[in-house]
Amino acid sequence: MEEKIEQIAGWLMTTERWVVFTGAGLSTESGIPDFRSPGGLWDRYNPQDFDFQNFISSQASRVKYWEMATEMYEPMKQAQPNLAHLAIAEMERLGKLDCIITQNIDGLHFKAGNSAEKVIEIHGTAMHVSCLHCQKRYNRDAIQARIKEGVKAPTCDDCGGPLKPATISFGQPMPEMETQEAYSRSSRCDLFMVIGSSLVVHPAASMPLIAKQSGAKLLIINRDPTPYDDMADIVIHGQAGPTMGNILKKLKQG
Ligand code: APR
Repeated sequence: MEEKIEQIAGWLMTTERWVVFTGAGLSTESGIPDFRSPGGLWDRYNPQDFDFQNFISSQASRVKYWEMATEMYEPMKQAQPNLAHLAIAEMERLGKLDCIITQNIDGLHFKAGNSAEKVIEIHGTAMHVSCLHCQKRYNRDAIQARIKEGVKAPTCDDCGGPLKPATISFGQPMPEMETQEAYSRSSRCDLFMVIGSSLVVHPAASMPLIAKQSGAKLLIINRDPTPYDDMADIVIHGQAGPTMGNILKKLKQG
């Protein structure tokens, strides 16, 4: 492990354009369960019940969606950045971080101190709510207050359309600008670091491949094996927090 940490720190010193790609595994040490680990969200819920087609086609599905989303939102709202988030914020201050491509909807990169222009949220955010008809935007807490008062599936004050957290559900179109930006940044970086993702959900999971095929060093830090481990230059199967803490320490020792 020590050798790998040294190697990674060495590559961070000799490369100029870093892209960090993050998934739910980055935030488990902040108390937010991931999706596919034992005890994860999809261990407790059937993801098919929450796809976009269901949401737009039935009131019952919207009610079920808001129950799940409300259960997920509370730990997210309380969560604080962990060592790994803080290490990524430090990477930005070191001046070579091109961007963070995150699948996470918890907003913890911002809480950790990364600047808005560096973070690409390709699966949207849970921190605000939008109307699916007129795109009117609502503060998440304001809508959660309506849920507490008994509203089962909130609707828009202006057009009556269904409201949904501004996250990207299965079957929902990806945010075009963010996805294009993430593709082009992945193809232009010289070091691509994956932290805490199972790399099974596309198109997001194709970005490490694009980076590798464009000549970048590919590093994967994930507790469990991923489908891309074989093509990575370095793989660490470990906890994101302590691993990133050690990498930054080594990097700063120079
Ligand atoms: N440190 C390192 N890795 C961790 C940690 C940790 N503390 N905790 C969990 N992991 C790893 C798990 O081993 C798992 O492989 O993080 C990975 C998380 O994988 P998923 O739960 O599949 O999350 P993610 O890859 O972000 O999912 C992608 O799927 O459900 C959709 O839209 C959702 O954005 C999400 C997408």
